[in-house]
Order: sequence, then structure tokens, then C-alpha cells
Amino acid sequence: MATIYIPYGTTEGQTAKIAEYISDVLQAHGHNVETADIKQSGDTIPDGYDAIIVGASVHMGKHEDYVRDFVRKNSTVLKHLPSALFSVSLAAHGDTENAESYVEKFEGETGWRPAQVGLFGGALLYTQYGFLKRHVMKKIASDKGTLDTDTSQDYVYTEWDGVKRFAEDFLDRL
Ligand SMILES: Cc1cc2nc3c(=O)[nH]c(=O)nc-3n(C[C@H](O)[C@H](O)[C@H](O)COP(=O)(O)O)c2cc1C
Repeated sequence: MATIYIPYGTTEGQTAKIAEYISDVLQAHGHNVETADIKQSGDTIPDGYDAIIVGASVHMGKHEDYVRDFVRKNSTVLKHLPSALFSVSLAAHGDTENAESYVEKFEGETGWRPAQVGLFGGALLYTQYGFLKRHVMKKIASDKGTLDTDTSQDYVYTEWDGVKRFAEDFLDRL
């Protein structure tokens, strides 16, 4: 049985949901898991963990700056323990090349090249955005062609089976 830490960054909450889902999968396999919103938990990985899974989401072409700083600060631990990254974006839904490019940029900025990377579709939460954000996101969605544009609804593009496989592949690597 391993003790696994899942620190994550989230802006609208989808990465937090995915972190909790991964935690549920790992716990169902008998492991101890703690998830942590980096904004609240601070920038240090506490002692005592056997493995780490970092989560971050993409806004305006990049992952959260505070996740980048967290990874930079904890790079020694991340390089020595079994670790993985999951990246949440709309690009991961139908534009893998772009989703990969966000991760490459993040790896370049942090110097951490995780052995396992998950690219997960995020959410379009039109009903929760303010006026301007809703219109900007609708324009982006409409330009992409693969995303929904009815702003009276929210859309979740996360493929939960893929998230489960990611978590189980991580366990296989432990
Ligand atoms: C203002 C804004 C900007 C975004 N920019 C991008 C982007 O540049 N590329 C992308 O693939 N997804 C982009 N997204 C989609 C987010 O990655 C997606 O909504 C994700 O679910 C956010 O995760 P979070 O709720 O954990 O922050 C953007 C979303 C918002 C609201």
C-alpha cells in the first residue's frame, strides 16, 4: 500500500474534480491518498509520501503560474519519487497537438519531465462565467468547431474512463 499525494491547481474547479476522481480510483485499490489545492496547501510537498501526481489546468495558453512555481520548488522530490502530471484543457478535446504543446512549455519552464502525462478535456461552464468571459469562450469554442456554443448550458469534456486508466497505469508503474 502506497501513500500518494495529489497537489493541483484549479481555476474553475474541473481539475479539482479530476483530482478527487483519481483519488477515488487509487483508494479503491487500497492506497492512502491526499489531494491538495496548492492555493490553500502551500508550496511544499509534506514528508511521508511515496508518490506524487500533480494536476494543473490551462488558461490563455498556459498552466497556472503557481503550479509552475510549486513544481520548480519541489523538483528534487518530483524527480526522485514516482510522479506524474495531468493537464486539463479544452485542447485535450480534439486538439491533442495543442494540448501537448502546453505540457512541453510547462516542462521547459519547470525542468520537470514526468514519466507519465495525462491530457484531459476540461469543462466549458458558460452559465458560471461572467458576461465577458462567456462571450470570449463562446468565440473560442465556435472557432475550434469541436466545442459546444449554446451558452445556456455547461459542458464537461472530461473522459472519465481515460482518467481511470491514467490512475491505474500510474499504479502499475509504482
Ligand atoms: C478564461 C479561460 C481561458 C481558457 N484558455 C484556454 C486555453 O488557452 N487553451 C485551452 O485548451 N483551454 C483553455 N480554457 C479551458 C480550461 O482549460 C477548461 O475550462 C478547464 O476545465 C479549466 O480547468 P479548471 O476548472 O480546473 O481551472 C480556458 C478557460 C477559460 C475560462
